[in-house]
Amino acid sequence: MQQVNLGMIGGGTVGSGVFHALQLNGDLMASRIGVKVNVRKVSVKAFDEPRPYEIPKSCMSMDWQSVVADPQVHIVAELVGGTTIARTMILTALKLGKPVVTANKALLSAHGEELFAAARKHGTNLYYEASVCGGIPIIKSLREGFVGNRVTHLYGIVNGTCNYILTRMKLEGADFASVLKDAQAQGYAEAEPSLDIDGYDAQHKIGILASLAHGFWVKPQDIYVEGIRSITRTDIQFANQLGYTIKLLGIIKLVERRAARSAGATGTRRSPPARIQVSVYPTLVPNAHVLASVNHVFNAVFVRGDVVGDTLFYGRGAGKDATASAVLSDLADAALDLKFGTRHRLPPFVPYERHGAVAPINEVVSRYFVRLNVVDRPGVLAQISAILGQARIGIASMIQPEGDEGASVPLILMLHDAPNGAVTRALKKIGKLAVVKSAPVMIRVENLC
Ligand code: NDP
Ligand code: HSE
Repeated sequence: MQQVNLGMIGGGTVGSGVFHALQLNGDLMASRIGVKVNVRKVSVKAFDEPRPYEIPKSCMSMDWQSVVADPQVHIVAELVGGTTIARTMILTALKLGKPVVTANKALLSAHGEELFAAARKHGTNLYYEASVCGGIPIIKSLREGFVGNRVTHLYGIVNGTCNYILTRMKLEGADFASVLKDAQAQGYAEAEPSLDIDGYDAQHKIGILASLAHGFWVKPQDIYVEGIRSITRTDIQFANQLGYTIKLLGIIKLVERRAARSAGATGTRRSPPARIQVSVYPTLVPNAHVLASVNHVFNAVFVRGDVVGDTLFYGRGAGKDATASAVLSDLADAALDLKFGTRHRLPPFVPYERHGAVAPINEVVSRYFVRLNVVDRPGVLAQISAILGQARIGIASMIQPEGDEGASVPLILMLHDAPNGAVTRALKKIGKLAVVKSAPVMIRVENLC
């Protein structure tokens, strides 16, 4: 049987998981694809670091450059992370014409355009299934499974660490900081955990999915992002009382298609370019919706295509084994590239939409949960509803737990559909009222229909 050699850079959580998975199922994979992927070397920073799965020292190297340059290494896997040396590692391998597999969403988000262009220039491929949603094959599904669909809506719980924290806060009333420590101990969190809890990891992933689904590179600075740091148990409890669960949701929605204006040489009308919402923020999801039941480190992605209708993907979003499963799938593709050449297969990323654009968050319309801390006295509601009324924002429902007159009490408002800009401006005014005792909390609501 044909054999291809793999040079791995990184033997930590994901790298050692890949090493282990290839030992476990490498022969099975070979019998399915007709090529054996053999690990030639694993480059690490230090031999004696503890690893979730053991890698024999004879297999390790501390010199990634010699691993990449080795003529006997045919495929390179970058499993290091970060946006600096990892970029050099990948570019070095691509320049040698070697297919590369990466799990590095931060790098793809920052430099994806450059890296895919380098892969094209050097006649090879860059695979990235493990960069989004751990073991869920969402990249391949969007690229291949939905190739005949226009994706109108995509909602994703794409960060395992945040979902783990929010789940345990809801189900156990657990404290944010201690749950984050558990997520780190289990290998879910990024080396820099603020990437997870401030929403940036989800921003990287949702940008990759948006680029793939809509055919133009969505830049991270165009993606509106809020993390989960400010979510309290009080918000979780009130949301639940109203029939909702708070999830950190990545949202990609086709807002509109601009008027068709171009005609091809043959006179056929080209479909107009997409304008999309791409954002990440804590969101109230109806308890009855399946995404509300996606708990702990699990991720889920709901995709609506104009031909297929609604689909749902569910699985572990982080951790050594789930992520290794995605890397193995890419290794199989890279091995098949080497066996057959890439001409007959779908390339990993093709930019086809030259005029696509991301809509600014202020223009995006949604519903809202607002928590205010107000003085319980006559006339308070009138002041608040006057500001909302002037901004043409309707109140859908309201909860105010009974308190002592003159004391501070929470006031929860559910607001009807309104543009983000209008709501933000109105809440700024409300926050300045003497009867409002702390900054208003606003969480967006998605009914997912
Ligand atoms: P780890 O920190 O566990 O592993 C990083 C590995 O890179 C270590 O083996 C380290 O060596 C090695 N390394 C660092 N610098 C160098 C260098 N200069 N030369 C050679 N090797 C080097 O990270 P993870 O495995 O968790 O993450 C790897 C990538 O996968 C990241 O991009 C991450 O975002 C992504 N990812 C992680 C997931 C997870 O659940 N953890 C899930 C999906 C994607 P040493 O062991 O000696 O320290
Ligand atoms: N830190 C990431 C998460 C790892 O928690 O989802 C998987 O990409």
